[in-house]
Formats: sequence, C-alpha cells, structure tokens
Amino acid sequence: MMTGEESWWRPLRIVDGIRIFHVDLAPNAEHETRAAAWLSAEELERRSRFWIDRARRDFTLCRAAVRVMLCEQLGCANTRLSFGFGDHGKPFAILNGLRVPVSFNVSHSAPHALIALSSERRIGVDVEMREARRDIDGIAESVFGADERKALASTGGDDKVRLFFRLWTMKEALIKALGTGFSLAPDRFEVPSAMIRDVDSGIFRFPHLPADTWRLEDLGESRFAAALAYDVSAEDR
Ligand SMILES: CC(C)(COP(=O)(O)OP(=O)(O)OC[C@H]1O[C@@H](n2cnc3c(N)ncnc32)[C@H](O)[C@@H]1OP(=O)(O)O)[C@@H](O)C(=O)NCCC(=O)NCCS
Repeated sequence: MMTGEESWWRPLRIVDGIRIFHVDLAPNAEHETRAAAWLSAEELERRSRFWIDRARRDFTLCRAAVRVMLCEQLGCANTRLSFGFGDHGKPFAILNGLRVPVSFNVSHSAPHALIALSSERRIGVDVEMREARRDIDGIAESVFGADERKALASTGGDDKVRLFFRLWTMKEALIKALGTGFSLAPDRFEVPSAMIRDVDSGIFRFPHLPADTWRLEDLGESRFAAALAYDVSAEDR
C-alpha cells in the first residue's frame, strides 16, 4: 500500500482473471490504525458502532484493503471513492457519482478474509473457518438440499466437517454473487452434483433463474474453506 510499509493483504490466486486476495485479520494495532485512516467519515461512524473488537477490526481492515485496491485499479484518489448498496446490502463502488466498472466482494471469518476483485462481472466469495463444534446436522437440515444432506449423512468425522463447510461456502458464494444473501433460502438450490464431493469447478444455474449461468470454484485449503462464484452468462450468449 504505502512504499516500505507492510500490508495486511496478499494476492492469493487468480481465477479466470478474477483476483483473489487473502487478508490477515489477526489483531494488530498498527495495521488497524493505518487502515482506519483510509475510511470515509461515514465508514468511521459505522466503525464506531461495532462494539465487538473483532467485528470492528474485520470491517476496518477489509474496507481499507478494498479502497487501496480500487484506487490502484482505477487510478483515483481515495477521497473520490464512495460505496452504494444493492437491495440486499451488496456493496459496489462509486467514483465521481458513477458506479465503477470494477466489482468486488468481501468475506471474513477471522483470522482470515478474502477479497475478490473483477472487472464488471457479478462475483461472490465466501470463507469460513472449519469449526467442528457447530450443529452441523441441524444447520444442514434447514439450509441444504436433498442430495447435499444425503452426502453429508453418509460422511463422518473430520470428512463431515470438511464437506459441510465446502458445501456451505459454495452456496454462500452463489447467493453473494447474485446479491440476495440469505434473503434467498439456500435450500432452494443445490451445488452441481459432481461438485458435492470431488470436482472443484463447475457450471451452475439457480432453478428460478435458468437464463443466468455461473461458474463455481472451490477455493478451500488447509487454513479455511472458501469458494468463489461468478457470472459467465455473457460468455454463453
Ligand atoms: C451477505 C451475507 C450472506 C453475508 O454473510 P456473512 O457470512 O455474515 O458475511 P461474510 O463475511 O461472508 O460477508 C460479509 C460481506 O459481504 C458483503 N455483503 C453484504 N451484503 C451482501 C449481499 N447481499 N450480497 C453479497 N455481498 C454482500 C459486504 O462487503 C460484507 O462485508 P462488510 O460489511 O464488512 O463490507 C448476509 O449478510 C446476508 O444474507 N445479507 C442479506 C440480508 C438481507 O437480505 N437483508 C435484507 C434487508 S437489507
């Protein structure tokens, strides 16, 4: 970000031209102070309303990283940049009053966050720490479809935890790419059957939106489960 200073994010991968960055959310007062300096008055006000340290840190470090990335990509001053929000809260960047032709999406699951950055595609990213203590079967009952639940029921131990978070992140990446978030019930669609267990990349269509085509990519690794979804409808036409 600033020459000679260490930044708290690093390039992680590039998928089909979409740049994925890893953000280190470990507590670090110096990083947080430097990040806060990038925020607008409105963002600082939002920041002041977080009463959980971790949530305040996650927002501050990620939003500042997004600002630095967008300023670099667009060649603009930070003060010219602001954000608008879709119907369900998905943020997008605005420069000089106009929506910019660069899209981004953020996900945090401390101590890790991912930021995906793309030119104009609709994108969604999700990252989750694999926490074994969650009520996996209970959650799966309400958010997974029949084939997803069947695959989970036939799996045990650590493999079950891995499968749960693999499916969870793929489904959340899709609803974040669409922009609805959980206002679209996640049991209304299932990840492509080949991707439930083994295949790491595939094509997907929401049953209620068959004209839109998405590519889904598992980004999971030893530190976390993660997935990316992005619109490829235009390429199909
Ligand atoms: C979007 C959503 C799925 C995120 O879930 P989560 O697991 O808590 O959070 P993640 O860390 O993966 O993602 C959070 C980031 O997603 C982005 N985001 C927020 N709303 C989003 C949406 N509708 N679609 C895509 N991305 C969204 C934001 O950048 C947010 O980070 P920030 O607030 O620090 O900028 C969830 O908040 C949701 O369902 N929101 C929609 C709620 C809704 O429909 N409200 C209706 C009234 S507005």
